[in-house]
Amino acid sequence: MPEIHFNKKKGSQLKLFTPGPVDVPKRILDEMAKPNDTHRSNPYREMHLLVEEGLKKVLYTSNDCLIFTSSATGIMEACVRNLLKDDEKGLFLSIGAFGDRWHQIGEGNGKNSIKEGVEWGQAIKANLVNDLFEKDNYDVVFVQANETSTGVYNPLEQIVPIMKDHNALVCVDATSSMAGVKVEVDKLGIDVCLASVQKCFTIPPGLAVCSISQAAIDKSKEVKNRGYYFDFLELLKKNKVHETPNTPPIPQIRALAAQLDYILNEEGLKNRFDRHTKLAEFTRKWAAEQGFEMFSEKGYESNTVSTIRNNIGIDIGKMVSTLMERGYKIVNGYGDLKNKTFRIGHMGEITLKELEKMLDVLKDIISEMK
Ligand SMILES: Cc1ncc(COP(=O)(O)O)c(C=O)c1O
Repeated sequence: MPEIHFNKKKGSQLKLFTPGPVDVPKRILDEMAKPNDTHRSNPYREMHLLVEEGLKKVLYTSNDCLIFTSSATGIMEACVRNLLKDDEKGLFLSIGAFGDRWHQIGEGNGKNSIKEGVEWGQAIKANLVNDLFEKDNYDVVFVQANETSTGVYNPLEQIVPIMKDHNALVCVDATSSMAGVKVEVDKLGIDVCLASVQKCFTIPPGLAVCSISQAAIDKSKEVKNRGYYFDFLELLKKNKVHETPNTPPIPQIRALAAQLDYILNEEGLKNRFDRHTKLAEFTRKWAAEQGFEMFSEKGYESNTVSTIRNNIGIDIGKMVSTLMERGYKIVNGYGDLKNKTFRIGHMGEITLKELEKMLDVLKDIISEMK
């Protein structure tokens, strides 16, 4: 049985199949343990530039890429504060818990925040977006790529161009898919594409990144009360000289620079995206073999996290804790979906072999419980 309490000496002994933070390989942990110069030094600037260049490749963009000392929620708040004027309308397209959270951030910042969405488990389709823009005008749209609570991936290729045709700025939360699923920022015209690093990038938490378009930069210049810590214009000013305005988590940035090199030059982007597709397909097939249905709408299932419906009425809490005793961690459903669903994260550096091994153990546990 693994140590499932704080293990001061060895660290966690669990293998994480979670939708973030994810299992981090030793080569990345070793990278984080290396000493660094300060954030106002040439070695830092070289490293920061490597991250900017790597992110541009991962996101298929020539837009500026920024590094934030926060998790993804910080950039979600930054989008609201920097891009939406007080007399404008923000459209928050929610398909789950994280879409709802973005809307809450809009309201919490006193912005005119309109939430629209579909039943949890479904994706946002082109006809809904067309209908919304026919009835009203929105200045900025906020939407998830991958909704981690429901395991649904929105069809960005279909819906973003409609928003752009209506001259809206488009912010995409790609937290649980960036570097695991292909998003072509420039082709789609996404203005801000954001993520934290503790998911598909496979870095311990503490850092978030985004691309930002010239249109979003120009808009920021017109928006008052952008705040201080997450002011896009201050971040951009320092980013031009490959620095951040304040002290960033330098070990995470070192690890991200190394990981971007690994992703782009060792595994290769296509192989990485294909691996995530295979992991998801394998998980869905396994779930069906155990008699489970997917919670996510067919054709829109996530490649990075599988949200599985508890249609066989199993005690999910017990299933998760028994699996933990055997060395693996998956998670219960998010918020209202607790016990109605469970989630298997298959993002980051997970291999098909590792996934197969964990699912074999989980299969035995389910058989014992049935
Ligand atoms: C889709 C999505 N958006 C936003 C967040 C919030 O990210 P963070 O915890 O890095 O702020 C998460 C976290 O799981 C997420 O999955």
